[in-house]
Amino acid sequence: MMTTDQTVRTFLEFFRERGHELVPSESLVSPPGDPVLFTTSGMHPLTPYLLGRPHPLGRRLTGTQRCLRTTDLDEVGDTTHLTVFEMLGSWSLGDYGGSQSLRWGWELLRDGFGIDPGRIHVTVFGGDEHVGPDRESWQTWEELGVPVEPTTHENWWSNGPTGLCGPDSEIFVWTGPEIPQGTPTSDDRWVEVWNHVMMRYVRYSDGSLEPLSRPNVDTGLGVERLVRILQDTPSVFEIDLFQPWLTTLPRLWGSLDEPSLRLLSDHLRSSIVVLGDEIMPSATGRGYVLRRLIRRVLTTLWRDGPTRTLSDLPMELIEHTLGHFRQSRDPHEVRTVLLDEERKFGLLLQRGRQVLSHRRFSGPLSEDDYRYLHDTHGLPRDLVVYLNTFSAESGTPPPAVP
Ligand code: SER
Repeated sequence: MMTTDQTVRTFLEFFRERGHELVPSESLVSPPGDPVLFTTSGMHPLTPYLLGRPHPLGRRLTGTQRCLRTTDLDEVGDTTHLTVFEMLGSWSLGDYGGSQSLRWGWELLRDGFGIDPGRIHVTVFGGDEHVGPDRESWQTWEELGVPVEPTTHENWWSNGPTGLCGPDSEIFVWTGPEIPQGTPTSDDRWVEVWNHVMMRYVRYSDGSLEPLSRPNVDTGLGVERLVRILQDTPSVFEIDLFQPWLTTLPRLWGSLDEPSLRLLSDHLRSSIVVLGDEIMPSATGRGYVLRRLIRRVLTTLWRDGPTRTLSDLPMELIEHTLGHFRQSRDPHEVRTVLLDEERKFGLLLQRGRQVLSHRRFSGPLSEDDYRYLHDTHGLPRDLVVYLNTFSAESGTPPPAVP
């Protein structure tokens, strides 16, 4: 069985053998001017080079990059989504074309990782009112004998409303028990593992598209998702990388239902990585995403055990996580920030309960009430809603803080 580390090494070696130089993994903090808060894809640190600047290591690159996607926050706990994850990538900066990239992708999945070709399906860009179908990718897959599904929106990749973009081709692997059924858009047991973007355009704020003078290929493969397939586990949470979490957390905090265990493992691990990149909890921006992650951990913990505390968290879990992502921040500092946030949030909840117990707030709250609670008592709306749910006599358990 291939471990996560072996999977990463196999990918990087495959591309190094084909002339790609290894680029270092960068921080989760996206480069200045990038329209997103966090690095959400391996291409972010390479943006200037994809736009045409020569890269000091040449025109064929490969690497692994930690990424964070908040759009998926509510999906965390299902079988495939994680907040922080690792993306393997390969890039052609105006060197080889999309067809070569797809052929290598096919070869690596089949021969390098041993995936049964009968469990692979791909999608390609079928064209829209601005850009025609990606015939080259379509034809390549047909020559390789791989089933193809054309789509429009799902197969156009962009970094944001403006900037680098282009048609893509996504490779899916069947994770169902029997013979594959349906297509990637009709059956979610087809799991997307690898996206090959034919990065040929820049989009401007007026919506216009300009072809790049030197088209690139940008590919990204989700490590944990691929490992889940290689290790044949029911979800990403049972792969080797999560074992320390799955064995330690129930030991610390008693039996945890599966959604809670997944949420705690994902959000704690993600918080550690975000802290590892020197981001601190705050009321806005990146720091607020971090604060939300930690607060969701705490509300999940306290729902069934008000005395549970992050001070129980062993240093080894923090060290294991920082080590995996090659982050050099002192684990003791990370732990101190987590405990500090826990203390602050505990006090805020206490104060919130006191304020909300006042007669003025016993009925439905008006917009003025919410404003007053926020401006005078520092209680954000989502927290007030949470506290009201928590104190309701309905007996339903409160949700994780939104
Ligand atoms: N940028 C593409 C993605 O994130 C491929 O890396 O899917």
